[in-house]
Amino acid sequence: MAQTASDSTIDALLKEGRTFPPSEQFTAQANVRSDALYREAEADPESFWAGQAEKYLTFSRPWDTVLEWNLPFARWFVGGQLNASYQCLDRHVEKGRGDKVAYLWEGEPGDARRITYAELLEQVCRFANALRGLGVKRGDRVGIYMGMVPELPVAMLACARIGAAHSVVFGGFSADAVADRMNDSGSVCLITQDEAWRRGTTVPLKRNVDEALLKTETIRNVVVVRRTGNDVPMDQGRDHWYHDLLADQPATCEPEAMESEDLLFTLYTSGTTAKPKGIKHTTAGYLLQTMYTHELVFDIHPDTVFWCAADIGWVTGHSYIVYGPLGNGGTSVMYEGTPDFPDKDRWWATIEKYGVNVLYCAPTAIRTFMKWGREFPDRHELSSLRLLGTVGEPINPEAWIWYREVIGGSRIPVVDTWWQTETGGIMIAPLPGVTTLKPGSATRPLPGIGASVVDEQGNDVPLGGGGYVVLTKPWPGMLRGIWGDDERYKDTYWTKYGDRYFAGDGARIDEDGYFWFMGRVDDVMNVSGHRISTTEVESALVDHPSVAEAAVTAKADEQTGQAISAFVTLRGGVEETTELASELRDHVGKLIGAIAKPKWITFTPELPKTRSGKIMRRLLRDISENRTLGDTTTLADANVVRELQSRAATEADKEQ
Ligand code: PRX
Repeated sequence: MAQTASDSTIDALLKEGRTFPPSEQFTAQANVRSDALYREAEADPESFWAGQAEKYLTFSRPWDTVLEWNLPFARWFVGGQLNASYQCLDRHVEKGRGDKVAYLWEGEPGDARRITYAELLEQVCRFANALRGLGVKRGDRVGIYMGMVPELPVAMLACARIGAAHSVVFGGFSADAVADRMNDSGSVCLITQDEAWRRGTTVPLKRNVDEALLKTETIRNVVVVRRTGNDVPMDQGRDHWYHDLLADQPATCEPEAMESEDLLFTLYTSGTTAKPKGIKHTTAGYLLQTMYTHELVFDIHPDTVFWCAADIGWVTGHSYIVYGPLGNGGTSVMYEGTPDFPDKDRWWATIEKYGVNVLYCAPTAIRTFMKWGREFPDRHELSSLRLLGTVGEPINPEAWIWYREVIGGSRIPVVDTWWQTETGGIMIAPLPGVTTLKPGSATRPLPGIGASVVDEQGNDVPLGGGGYVVLTKPWPGMLRGIWGDDERYKDTYWTKYGDRYFAGDGARIDEDGYFWFMGRVDDVMNVSGHRISTTEVESALVDHPSVAEAAVTAKADEQTGQAISAFVTLRGGVEETTELASELRDHVGKLIGAIAKPKWITFTPELPKTRSGKIMRRLLRDISENRTLGDTTTLADANVVRELQSRAATEADKEQ
C-alpha cells in the first residue's frame, strides 16, 4: 500500500499497549452505559436508524421509507419534510428553552457575546427575510466566506430556512479559491465580512471577495457583515451591509418545508485531482448523523458546555459547531481567533472563563501545545472538563497521553473520532461510557456504522493486519454525491470495491477489532488535519512563470502531522534562489491559501520518471522522508535520484 503516514508513526502504534477502561463514575452518568445499542443496530440497521430519526428529528410531514439504496445513491427518510433551521432553533424555543444560551462567543480582541436560542432564531429570521428580499430562493446556492463570527452560523441557518444550499469557503482560502468554488456551485449571492481578526491583525475578506468576483458571473449580491469596522470598498447596487439589510426586516420568517433529501449544503474538499469536489449533504440524514454522534460520542447532557475548536469553514465546524449542537439544543463556545493571542494560554483561559466541559480539537493543535509546554495550561483551572476529543488525522499515542494527563488531569476520557467531509459526521469512535480506550486508536465503528479493513482484492484482513478502510453499509449522513459530477463520485468512492465505500485511508485492525488509522493512501495530504491534494499544489506551482514542472509529496512533520514537500524544475535560464523559493510559496498561498504553502522546496533539473514519463512519486516520498528507496528498476535515469537525495538533505538541514 502506498503510505503517506510516516513509518515511525506506524511503529509507535504497533508498540502501544496501554488501555483505559471507562471509570465507574463516568459510566454511571453516561448517556450510553452498555453495548446493547451496538447489538440493536447490528440486528436491524434500518429500523435502528428509523428509531434514531424518531428520537432526534422533527418532521413537518412524516417519512414513508427509511432508506432507498440504489448503489451508490442513497435516499434516507424518503417522503419526509422538515427544515434544518426549525430543527436547530424554533423547536427549542417552542419548548420554552428560548433563554438557553446557544453560543458563548469569544472574539479574538477580547469582546464577547452570549446568544440565546431566541436571539439566534430572530437573527436568522431577519436574515432569511433579507435574503429573500435579494431574490435568493429555494434551490439556489449561496456562498459564505467569513471568519468565526456569530453571523456565520446565522447565515448558514438563514439559507437553510429559505431552502437555499450554502457553500462555506474557509476564511483562510484565497480569492482564486473563492472564485473557483462560487463558479463550480453557481452561487447567486456571497456573504462575507469587512475583515476578520486573526492573531491581532486583520484578514481582508471583503477585498478578497472583490478580487474573486472579477472571475465569477453568477453572484448578483454581496452581503457584508461589519466586524473590524475598517473601511472597505462597497459596490453600489451589488454590495449590502448586513446591518442595513436586517434593520427593517420582520423578526419572524416561515421556514420552507424541505424534503428529507433536499440539498442542505455543499462543502468543497480536496481529492486526487486539482479540482476540489463539492461534497453534497442533504437535510434529514445529515442532521440525524450529526445530532446522534454529538450526543453519544461527546456524552452531551442538557447543561454541557461544548467547545469544538475547529473552524466552521471545515466540515468539523459545520457538524459540531452548527448542526449537531444546535440540533440538540446545546450550548457551545465559539472562538474567533488563534490559540496564541494575546498569549499561548488563550484556549485554557477560555475553558476556565466559560466552564467548558467538553473540548474537541485536532492532534496538530495538541502537538503545538505540547511544544509550547505545560506552563500555559497549568496557569488555569481546567477542572470543568469532563471529556476530550480529537479529529482530523491520526493522533500519536504520546500526544494522546499528554492531552489526557496535562489537559484532562489524568481523570477523563479522550475520544479519537474518525470521519471525513464525505461521511457528514463521526463514524469510528468510542462511546465514552462503554469503550475501553487505547491511545492512538479511534476504536470501533459506532452503532449503525459498518466498517472494515480490506486487502487489495477486497477481502477482510485478519485481525492484526493492515489494509484499506471501507464502509460496508449506507449511513444517514453519507454524501449524496459530488456537485455536478456523478461520474467522479462513482469513480472516487465506489469503483475500487463495488458495493463498499472506499475511504482512501489505510488502517490496521487489532485483535479487539480496533481501528488504528495510518493516513491517506491516495495523493491527498493531511496538513494540520486538513486535506490538500498534491495535484492542486502542483498546478499552483506550475502556474508560476518560472516553473516548468513540479511534483509534491507529504513529509512527516512533528507539528502538523504532514507538511508539504515540493520538487520543482525551473524553466531554462531561471536561477535557483531562496528568494524564488519564497516567491513560489507565496504564489501557492495566493492561489489556494496559506495552508497549502510547501514547507520545503527542492529545486531539481529533472524529476524522477519512469521510462514512459510518469513521475515516480513513491520515490519522491522516500527521498522526502529520507528513507531507503523502494524499487527503482523502472526509473529512466538513476542519476536524477542520487542528485535529488543530496539536494533534499541540504534543504532539510536548512530547516534545522
Ligand atoms: O485521513 C483521514 C483523516 O482526515 C481525512 C478526512 O479529512 P476531512 O474530509 O478534511 O475531514 C476532517 C475532519 C472530519 C480522513 O480521510 N482523519 C480524520 N479523522 C481522523 C483521521 N485520521 C485518523 N484518525 C482520525 N481520528
